[in-house]
Amino acid sequence: MKILIAGAAGRLGRALADPLEQRWQVVSLARDELDITSESAVRAALDSHQPELVINAAAFTDVDGAESRPEAAREANALGPRNLARETLRREAALLSFSTDYVFDGAKKTAYDENDAPAPLSVYGESKLAGEEEIRRHNPRHFIVRTAWLYDNRGESFARRAIELAANHAEVRIVDDQRGSPTFVPHLAAAVARLAATDAFGTHHIAGSGGCSRLEFAGELYGRLGISTRLVAAKTADFPAAARRPSNSELTTSRQRAIELPPWREGVAEFASRARD
Ligand SMILES: NC(=O)c1ccc[n+]([C@@H]2O[C@H](COP(=O)([O-])OP(=O)(O)OC[C@H]3O[C@@H](n4cnc5c(N)ncnc54)[C@H](OP(=O)(O)O)[C@@H]3O)[C@@H](O)[C@H]2O)c1
Repeated sequence: MKILIAGAAGRLGRALADPLEQRWQVVSLARDELDITSESAVRAALDSHQPELVINAAAFTDVDGAESRPEAAREANALGPRNLARETLRREAALLSFSTDYVFDGAKKTAYDENDAPAPLSVYGESKLAGEEEIRRHNPRHFIVRTAWLYDNRGESFARRAIELAANHAEVRIVDDQRGSPTFVPHLAAAVARLAATDAFGTHHIAGSGGCSRLEFAGELYGRLGISTRLVAAKTADFPAAARRPSNSELTTSRQRAIELPPWREGVAEFASRARD
């Protein structure tokens, strides 16, 4: 199989090539090589490379920035996926695209599965949900992978910021009223390679198994890394932000042929062991 990755220079895009290249031929295109908001550029890339599967890792991911730039978020997160869905259908290719736990409002007390109704609180969440709908409308051979709280040993993430804060503060305040599923990017990338080998089209929740608060996540990171900086519980309201975030967006799956990730703590353990290397 030949696979084309769009948004290949992003946090997730960079990690995908490695597990996919072990089985398939992969073409990785960063934003300056393929802008997914351009229908003609998408068409030209698909005509030139003729992939059987397109993986869309491109997105506008600035959750707070989207509140003041809704058009930019919509273009990348809804129009881009529409272009990819239409053009993959035209070429009889499949499309795998990523979405987010932020399509949910957090009112549920337990983990969200694929049957729960989305109700985004933010412009970012709305734009990602619109992208999902475009894909469902335009190409039935799609995988929509909702994931959450991505972190890796390179690039920006909540995990990396929490560690940096510990380096120059006596104590670090982290919210305990946002719950989610921390997802170690290499685990997700390996799972995407397993999913790509199937024809289990539709929507999949793929995130670190189980859930925790941001404070628990930071505590596990500090513990694994031997960081002794004191963690102090804070509330979301203590850190005013442009976008509203769900208080609970833990993900689980109801799919029979589920592609599951290891428990989120195993992701932290692997992150810590790579950080020490
Ligand atoms: N990060 C998380 O915690 C998280 C959680 C849940 C779901 N997700 C989803 O996971 C996916 C990957 O996220 P990520 O964390 O890897 O994001 P990221 O690091 O921000 O990467 C996104 C990439 O897409 C590129 N891009 C933006 N607009 C583009 C366009 N019009 N055409 C082509 N490329 C474009 C960006 O380029 P520039 O940098 O040049 O703009 C960047 O390289 C996204 O669908 C995101 O919504 C992420």
